[in-house]
Amino acid sequence: MNRKALIGIIIIMTIALIGLLGVQLYWIRSASSVKEASFRRSVNEAMAKVVYKLERLEKRRAAEINPFPGMLSFNKHLDYSLFITPYEMDSLISLELNIRGVDTRYQFGIYKPEQDYFIMEKSSDYRKQLIQIGYAYPLFSYDMFTTPEYLLIYFPYERQFLLTELWGMLLISIVLIVVIVYTFSYTITILIRQKKISDMKSDFINNMTHEFKTPISTISLACEALEDKELPRSKAFYDNYIEMIREENSRLSILSERILQAAVLEKGELKMYREMVDLHAVIRDVMKNIRIQVEIKDGDIHTNLRAKPSQLEGDKVHLTNLVYNLLDNATKYTPRRPDIRIRTENSGQGITLSIQDNGTGISKHEQKKIFDKLYRIPTGNIHNVRGFGLGLSYVKAIVGEHHGKITIDSEMNKGTLFKIYLPYKIPD
Ligand SMILES: Nc1ncnc2c1ncn2[C@@H]1O[C@H](COP(=O)(O)OP(=O)(O)OP(=O)(O)O)[C@@H](O)[C@H]1O
Ligand SMILES: [Mg+2]
Repeated sequence: MNRKALIGIIIIMTIALIGLLGVQLYWIRSASSVKEASFRRSVNEAMAKVVYKLERLEKRRAAEINPFPGMLSFNKHLDYSLFITPYEMDSLISLELNIRGVDTRYQFGIYKPEQDYFIMEKSSDYRKQLIQIGYAYPLFSYDMFTTPEYLLIYFPYERQFLLTELWGMLLISIVLIVVIVYTFSYTITILIRQKKISDMKSDFINNMTHEFKTPISTISLACEALEDKELPRSKAFYDNYIEMIREENSRLSILSERILQAAVLEKGELKMYREMVDLHAVIRDVMKNIRIQVEIKDGDIHTNLRAKPSQLEGDKVHLTNLVYNLLDNATKYTPRRPDIRIRTENSGQGITLSIQDNGTGISKHEQKKIFDKLYRIPTGNIHNVRGFGLGLSYVKAIVGEHHGKITIDSEMNKGTLFKIYLPYKIPD
């Protein structure tokens, strides 16, 4: 998958997710307004019933007091204290609300706006809220002789009550959204990681093809020359071409060996022989090979081999490859006049080997990744330098097999210092 397709997918998925979140929020909001409307309807119904019952109570009481209403009363309603107590009023309201599922605390009052006076009330603490935001229902509206009176009701916890009703739905939505966001970001991370791995693999194949191509074409040219009957044949002629073929052949076998080794590392089938190895001898051996490359670049290698004893338990071949890889990197990644310093010293129960260069350096961020298999720092001029990104992952594995430790200290454009601690004896 190319970069653009990946970015496209991320954008589409993000938009879809935001859209989904929006729709979800919209549904929650409309569900909440439906709940609010149904709450209001229930309160209205309950209070209409309360008003009706209250008026009936008053009528019954009036009939008891005065059996001939037409003659003596002028349709003026009785004083509340004659037919209902605040306590009875409270239970009447509570009963009607409960029947309709309105199960939250309330405050009520019977209010005369003209005198700004509460005839009856549950508590005097909520007068302001009752008047300003309470639900109001006219009482005894047929009574022409009394100024208007209202039954007011106010729910201090109305919001919370409505929210608790929605709580289940909200919770499920939140859980689902969290699950979707989590899986989405997880998928994206995996996608990006896979893309990086596939890029690294194709880089590796490119490099490998390139590395194999040069010796193969040199060998085939040499063969052609040997076959050419027109060229003058002398011993020197044969020796020259045969030497060339041998050299290129050994290059090929080193290359294939390295790749095979990476496969072995991958499978965890690395074989270790344990013998006493003289680390200084190993270093000198590798230096013979590396020195030419350093001198081509007009550089120098300085040694300060102070470890005494310099022998330790390990695998000679692997330790040689380890030192080779580090010195190879130190040379490869120092563009101008390498000044490489190799140092050994005894420390704790082993030897510490330090290899320092004055090369490009490695940023803190990259230092975490360079030991990963196939990883190469993707910066400008380093791309001119050929490599498979296998060296340091191999070094790390070998240090691990020897129960040692590797640390890195590097500053951009100043240089890099690798320190490797190897114990005298590998614990069983
Ligand atoms: N001494 C160093 N100075 C600067 N950068 C380094 C140094 N050593 C390693 N690196 C960086 O770390 C990366 C990984 O190194 P590693 O040795 O694993 O691979 P490589 O050198 O690219 O290839 P290989 O060693 O397989 O031929 C390199 O590509 C390089 O960018
Ligand atoms: Mg390397």
